[in-house]
Amino acid sequence: MTSRPGELPTGDEKARDVRRLFDTIAPRYDLVNRVITFGMDVGWRRRAVRELRLPGGSLVLDLACGTGDLCTELSNRGYRAVGFDFSHGMLTATATAAPVVQADILRLPVRDGGAEGATCGFALRNVVSLAGLFAELGRVVRPGGRIALLDASRPDHPVLRAGHSVYFNHVVPLIGGLLSNRDAYAYLPRSMAYLPPAGEMRSMLREAGFPDAMRLQLSGGLTQLFVGTRA
Ligand SMILES: C[S@@+](CC[C@H](N)C(=O)[O-])C[C@H]1O[C@@H](n2cnc3c(N)ncnc32)[C@H](O)[C@@H]1O
Repeated sequence: MTSRPGELPTGDEKARDVRRLFDTIAPRYDLVNRVITFGMDVGWRRRAVRELRLPGGSLVLDLACGTGDLCTELSNRGYRAVGFDFSHGMLTATATAAPVVQADILRLPVRDGGAEGATCGFALRNVVSLAGLFAELGRVVRPGGRIALLDASRPDHPVLRAGHSVYFNHVVPLIGGLLSNRDAYAYLPRSMAYLPPAGEMRSMLREAGFPDAMRLQLSGGLTQLFVGTRA
């Protein structure tokens, strides 16, 4: 990250820094994910895909697919998955058999109403404009289609929240440094500041065309999952 310490980049600078960061950590991204979440990330993605509740064979776009874990999960559930990500490094490290496309998820190369569903795993705080992303979801998902969006969260319970804060702010950068890149994994907790409060995100999704949008808390609030149906 090139902005001054304590500051978070915005706009084009953010997009450039995020892409560079993921290009850098791509080779060991999956390993670090498994270690820092104690393997729980696998269950979170599985839950997101389960919440889609679409007919088998539905086309589901996985936005910010990274190394493709959600694409694989979607394929395993009988969906036709296509992944989109702008990091060449992450796409090169993919292990999924689903097709993946290098693209900015704020400008998807997909026609209006072209998909039955969309997922997004742990990338909401990485985009330059969350409203822009939600508008793009509203554009590409056809009426009756479903979305399932995952991102990190902080537990509500004060004790869990305190423990989580120590782990996320101090232990995760340490593990990330040992296995991959310390700066990148120090950015991870800082980037939580990009996420608006849950109620605001739900309202934004409702305005973007998902009137039943709701938020589920997973694993005691370590992760949040937004689900909704396109009106
Ligand atoms: C934390 S990773 C998540 C990867 C994957 N979804 C997962 O569940 O492991 C965030 C991903 O978002 C991608 N990303 C962020 N902003 C993007 C954008 N505007 N367009 C495309 N990809 C983007 C990054 O390149 C990175 O691969």
